[in-house]
Amino acid sequence: MLRSKNLTFSCTTTGLSCTAGINGSGLRFTFCISVISHSISGNVSSKIRCQSARIEGKLAPVSLNSVRQVDGSPHCLSVSWTSNVTHFPLAPFEIERGELNSQIKFTAEGEVNAQVRNVSVTGYTFQVCLFKPYTSYTLEIRNRYLGEASPWSEWSNPFQGRTAEAAPSAAPALWREVGPIGRNGWRLISLLWKPLPRFMANGRVTFYNVTCRAENGLTLSDYGSCGKLQPETTSCSLPLPAGRCSCSLTASTSAGTSPKALVWISGSSEKEPPPPAELTATPLGDDSVKIRWRPPPDLSVSGFVVEWVAVREETSSVLHWEKLNSSSTKLIITEGVKTMERYAISVKALYGEQGAGGNITLHVYTQEGTPSAGPDVRVEHISETSVELSWSPVPVEQLHGFIRSYALVCTTRNQLARIYSTSFAHLVCLYLKILAIIYDIFIRASTVAGTGPAGNPANVHIVSADGVKPMALTRLYCCVLVLVVKQKPFFMTSMIKKKLFHRVPDPSNSTVSQWN
Ligand SMILES: *[C@@H]1O[C@H](CO)[C@@H](O)[C@H](O)[C@H]1NC(C)=O
Ligand SMILES: *[C@@H]1O[C@H](CO)[C@@H](O)[C@H](O)[C@H]1NC(C)=O
Ligand SMILES: *[C@@H]1O[C@H](CO)[C@@H](O)[C@H](O)[C@H]1NC(C)=O
Ligand SMILES: *[C@@H]1O[C@H](CO)[C@@H](O)[C@H](O)[C@H]1NC(C)=O
Ligand SMILES: *[C@@H]1O[C@H](CO)[C@@H](O)[C@H](O)[C@H]1NC(C)=O
Ligand SMILES: *[C@@H]1O[C@H](CO)[C@@H](O)[C@H](O)[C@H]1NC(C)=O
Ligand SMILES: *[C@@H]1O[C@H](CO)[C@@H](O)[C@H](O)[C@H]1NC(C)=O
Repeated sequence: MLRSKNLTFSCTTTGLSCTAGINGSGLRFTFCISVISHSISGNVSSKIRCQSARIEGKLAPVSLNSVRQVDGSPHCLSVSWTSNVTHFPLAPFEIERGELNSQIKFTAEGEVNAQVRNVSVTGYTFQVCLFKPYTSYTLEIRNRYLGEASPWSEWSNPFQGRTAEAAPSAAPALWREVGPIGRNGWRLISLLWKPLPRFMANGRVTFYNVTCRAENGLTLSDYGSCGKLQPETTSCSLPLPAGRCSCSLTASTSAGTSPKALVWISGSSEKEPPPPAELTATPLGDDSVKIRWRPPPDLSVSGFVVEWVAVREETSSVLHWEKLNSSSTKLIITEGVKTMERYAISVKALYGEQGAGGNITLHVYTQEGTPSAGPDVRVEHISETSVELSWSPVPVEQLHGFIRSYALVCTTRNQLARIYSTSFAHLVCLYLKILAIIYDIFIRASTVAGTGPAGNPANVHIVSADGVKPMALTRLYCCVLVLVVKQKPFFMTSMIKKKLFHRVPDPSNSTVSQWN
């Protein structure tokens, strides 16, 4: 039972605690409390205890009515509140003296878990400085009188506010591509960088500043497309002289400029420091590859750069890259990776001011498919005793895998005559008993995933030069270079371009006899 100003409030319970509502009467007076136990044998009352209502009472929740950024203090928010109970139990001077004990509950945008912190509230507007720059927060506050003896009020209404921008806390990752060396050792350098992640940008980037210098003091006059750049830009290029050069990049927000990112470009005639020692790749799924490398024995390595690009013949493809620190020996690549596409992955070590070393490169698929085209066969030469064929390689875009073998198919009048295939990388000579005078000869390519379609066939019409009827020819020799490339598919392209036919073979020595 509570008594104040001659008003009585009570609550009943069979347990050990209960809460009595005091019907908006405020807490600025003294309450007297007694506990009465009721039983069949009678009612027993405790001693009456009187004390300030503010200590035992729960304050009404307050209303937040503004949350504002603090210019120049990107970690702070300015919070204003009011109370709409007619008599808030603490006078402004008591609040100023720090008699209000408060906590703030806040959630950053995109986060789910709220954090609760003690805050010092000495007025209807107060600053809290425990936030990240340029981040939107939802806040609530609660109060109690003085200390732990008092219960917390309910939380206030939530209110949202964003902190002010700060200068970016890190430089964007910066890399370069070096173009071919031209006259006097000049080369076109493309500088590439990655937009800063939000938590490092600390605001909206308003511009990038890219500057380069020649280490031998030569003044550069042509900045190409570099210099002060729009915030959407992520690359620029400029010509640089033969000597060692360095380029730097900063990102700026309204509040300031990031530290500098620096990239060193070794001189055109400098010897390339060594590449990493070993590179392996393991597909992890359809769209990721794990790569590992061993660092070069040289201890002055300052970092690594991994570059990957889809291998294409016809269209150019985007260069992806990742810069890593000197203790890194692996990376999981996911950006821009899909199945049935060949990627060239290369790793270079960085050697501080010496620039980047040579690369170690690997070609990989996350998953191979069957070729979507076959090589086109062309007749190079026909004589009475031989047919000379050549074929063009299938563009890498249509291979979808590494070629394991080729199958040569000879048909006559749409009937399958014979299929020859091999998995050996040497010259194989075949012969066909003449059954007809027209042969269609075509080739299919196979990867581990299966065999692709045939390319355009060569139509071989056998005509004898001296008027002898073609039927008189008893044998047609086909000489085919069958290649299988297991690990180094790039050798293939150039070798296939060679003529397939070298000499008229003696069928009795041919390996075909064993195949039959
Ligand atoms: C609150 O108390 C006043 C008297 O102080 C009374 O008139 C009113 O009915 C009470 N309201 C409630 C909801 O108990
Ligand atoms: C005990 O309390 C109850 C409820 O307040 C009341 O009705 C009853 O009269 C009280 N008994 C005595 C003996 O005071
Ligand atoms: C303020 O008063 C209104 C009605 O008068 C009430 O609905 C609201 O809950 C009150 N807010 C607080 C924080 O007490
Ligand atoms: C708030 O301060 C009290 C002491 O005044 C301390 O016991 C408590 O752990 C603090 N809470 C937080 C969330 O810092
Ligand atoms: C860009 O950076 C250079 C070199 O640090 C500096 O001299 C120049 O003032 C910067 N430009 C802007 C627009 O900040
Ligand atoms: C290097 O990078 C890895 C992965 O980002 C990190 O775990 C490690 O702490 C970094 N090492 C140094 C020396 O910075
Ligand atoms: C790797 O090195 C070779 C030979 O030096 C070069 O032709 C190739 O362009 C380099 N690849 C990359 C991605 O830098």
